[in-house]
Amino acid sequence: MTSQVRGVQLARLLGQWHALPGRRRSPDYAALAAAVRGLLADGRLPLGVRLPAERELAEALRISRTTVTAAYRELRESGHLASRRGAGSWTMLPGTHRMASTGLWTPLDDRDMIDLGVAALAAPPQLVPAARAATEDLPHYLGGAGYHPTGIIELREAVARAYTERGLPTSPEQIMVTSGTQHALDLVLRLALSPGGGVLVESPTYPNALAALSARRARISTHGLAMDDLGWDADLLLGSIRQARPKLAYLIPEFQNPTGHLMATELRERLVAAAHAAGTDLVIDESFVDLPLDGTPLPPPVATFDRHSRVISIGGMSKPYWGGLRIGWVRASAPQVQRLAAARVGVDMASPVLDQLVAVHLLAEAATIVAARRAQLAAQRDALVGALAERLPDWRVSVPRGGVTLWVELDGPVSSALARAAEEVGVRLAPGPRFGLDGTLERFLRLPFTLPAADLVEAVGRLAAVRYDLDRTGRPQWREPSVIA
Ligand SMILES: Cc1ncc(COP(=O)(O)O)c(C=O)c1O
Repeated sequence: MTSQVRGVQLARLLGQWHALPGRRRSPDYAALAAAVRGLLADGRLPLGVRLPAERELAEALRISRTTVTAAYRELRESGHLASRRGAGSWTMLPGTHRMASTGLWTPLDDRDMIDLGVAALAAPPQLVPAARAATEDLPHYLGGAGYHPTGIIELREAVARAYTERGLPTSPEQIMVTSGTQHALDLVLRLALSPGGGVLVESPTYPNALAALSARRARISTHGLAMDDLGWDADLLLGSIRQARPKLAYLIPEFQNPTGHLMATELRERLVAAAHAAGTDLVIDESFVDLPLDGTPLPPPVATFDRHSRVISIGGMSKPYWGGLRIGWVRASAPQVQRLAAARVGVDMASPVLDQLVAVHLLAEAATIVAARRAQLAAQRDALVGALAERLPDWRVSVPRGGVTLWVELDGPVSSALARAAEEVGVRLAPGPRFGLDGTLERFLRLPFTLPAADLVEAVGRLAAVRYDLDRTGRPQWREPSVIA
């Protein structure tokens, strides 16, 4: 069944569309079409939904029907709308688009676009030699059927060793290899959460985790992170766990995405105790654990404090190595791993053997690869922070001690408007509301520092230009966000 957006709903999503940048230079119908494209681009208007009839939208927006007709025509011509006479019009995207990791859509053919929607590095130089070495190892596996629902033993051993080296003794039986961290999260949710179950998440948090939780029909509540200092307010966080007793809490304690915060040791210990007392399972996403910068020491893994199998850790290769590898894992008790493997065979049976072998070779060189990544990220972070201080001094930035993102407090609740304007000048952004629930966080923007420094500086220059334009075209009247995190 196709879902439909009603005239009043679309009007609300469009907000002050007629006051957006570029408005002075374009007629009403073009501004309306641009605003709809903007909603599609930042994911606020889903693909494949039926738009309201022209008359209905004209009434909701209090504009003439001919303006809506012309806007719909332009959207059809640009490939954003498909119409069938008598049946209506559906949102779509032009053919040459792919989904970026944030859920934003990226045109493949736009070489000038600086994509700040994706917080991930290009592959390290060691990837091709690792892939070659993996093909040499492959014959060893070809005599079997190739299905390893918990992963090949070499990789499980390597991942278990890395946990043990971090001070958390781990056996290979406690590791299940997945096709990425996102897959790990999805599997854990399948096992640990029934539809309607309560889940506590940070706000802001990683958008695709919210998507996975929504897919499980979780009842999501949030813990708002502070902008600076340590991020988590211990009393509030532990208080919500004690009072709401959620079935599960999903947290990113190491260089949280998007804020970059690092959770202190003491809170880790108290968190596990509170979760145990409340009967809450903790799903700890360690995606960024390999990426402390400036020699920042890492607290012990959250699972170190676990005595009752309350903590399930998930992690993967995407951030320190390469997202295209699609290798992640779950660390849990051995019986939990067995249950996860049983759940997994109903989904994808196992991860590709060749990719797992590539991962084994990369992990064998972890020290060299990760040291180079940290140096690269620190230099890029500093370039981005410097460019922001120079070009957008009214934006507030707290410099993260690790990870790959800055969480910037803007000089107004303009994040989505800025993302739409930035698209016009070749910068793709993930605006604040993507990291929260219900369209909040308009005052914030995530800026990854995963691109080369020159691209980051260029992007900031372009953003500074459109930020100035937003003011000159009259600041749109945005609803005050109900939650500031
Ligand atoms: C916190 C967090 N979890 C999970 C993922 C997904 O990682 P993967 O590519 O391993 O599925 C990301 C990627 O951005 C992330 O930031």
